[in-house]
Amino acid sequence: MSERILTGIKPTGQLTLGNYIGVLRNLPKMTDRGECIFFIADLHALTLPIEPETLRQNSIDLASFYLAAGLDPKKVTLFLQSSVSEHAELNAIMQNYLYMGELSRMTQFKDKASKMNESAIGLGLFAYPVLMACDIILYDSDVIPVGEDQIQHVEITRDLVNRFNNRYGKVLNMPKYEIRKVGARIMSLSDPTVKMSKSDPKGDIFLKDDMKTVRKKIMSAVTDLGCEVKYDPENKPGISNLLTIYAAMKDISIEEAEKEFVGKRYGEFKTAVADAVIAELEPFQERYKQIVANKEYEAVLKEGAIKAKEMAHKTLVRVQEAVGLLKI
Ligand code: TYM
Repeated sequence: MSERILTGIKPTGQLTLGNYIGVLRNLPKMTDRGECIFFIADLHALTLPIEPETLRQNSIDLASFYLAAGLDPKKVTLFLQSSVSEHAELNAIMQNYLYMGELSRMTQFKDKASKMNESAIGLGLFAYPVLMACDIILYDSDVIPVGEDQIQHVEITRDLVNRFNNRYGKVLNMPKYEIRKVGARIMSLSDPTVKMSKSDPKGDIFLKDDMKTVRKKIMSAVTDLGCEVKYDPENKPGISNLLTIYAAMKDISIEEAEKEFVGKRYGEFKTAVADAVIAELEPFQERYKQIVANKEYEAVLKEGAIKAKEMAHKTLVRVQEAVGLLKI
């Protein structure tokens, strides 16, 4: 049987160049490697406050971004998480097999919760990794392409699979994460010591930014002392981040990127980075606009939900039977 490759993206905030380099742009290639299941994690988007209209709009955007990245709808199953009720049904079972202690140690939870008033932290945010584990388990997924910040969530899924299979026999398939060699963690342009994230407008390049803004943001990215274009994340985090972006956009190694800029000044280097990003982002945005205008995502998502449900249901029944839920 061919590999099952699965990943999801949350429709919160605007998608960034980090999401694009870390995951999105790599997905079309994967369709030749195995069976691809990609989705919009809209239930996960509810774990932080979001306006209904924003969620709807972000979900359309995200579906269109997936397609604009070059995914052939015939070669993937693309759907909204909330259209496949098996995610929530499996969640109701699996929440009993992940424990408070391990969930409270999750970096993403700690990060997000530390910025919130404790009385406003929803149970869904705490239990986030349970639903994510269900997303993965439901499709007997083998490979989970993600950025570095999601590794811990895939690791806890593996713990859950082990725990469950030890108790009930080999019911669940064991997944593993896969990260890019170059670009698994794109950093903020305004503070290259923190990750570029959807909630940081200053340091982000958003996939919907116009090209003038993209160029401006790259040209004013924080750089480091000295004048050598060299990869040294410790001492030169700003330049290293831009080198990573450049190498990722050109599909070359960091070393190859470094060689291109020996003896060049920061200004010249930044112009080349901006050119590389724009060369890819501009046609991407054109495709995105067309897809939104023609509502191309609608039929794809509808069909995707039907296919996904078929797969997910089989696993759900297997789990229900394993734990002793009576099927009459
Ligand atoms: P999300 O929506 O935060 O991010 C989507 C993907 O983008 C990656 N990413 C980055 N990669 C490189 N550099 C960055 N600065 C950067 N920022 C984000 C993320 O690692 C991610 O792969 N929990 C997931 C969504 C999800 C999921 C799943 C993923 C729900 N269920 C099942 C895989 C499998 C999330 O919030 O990603």
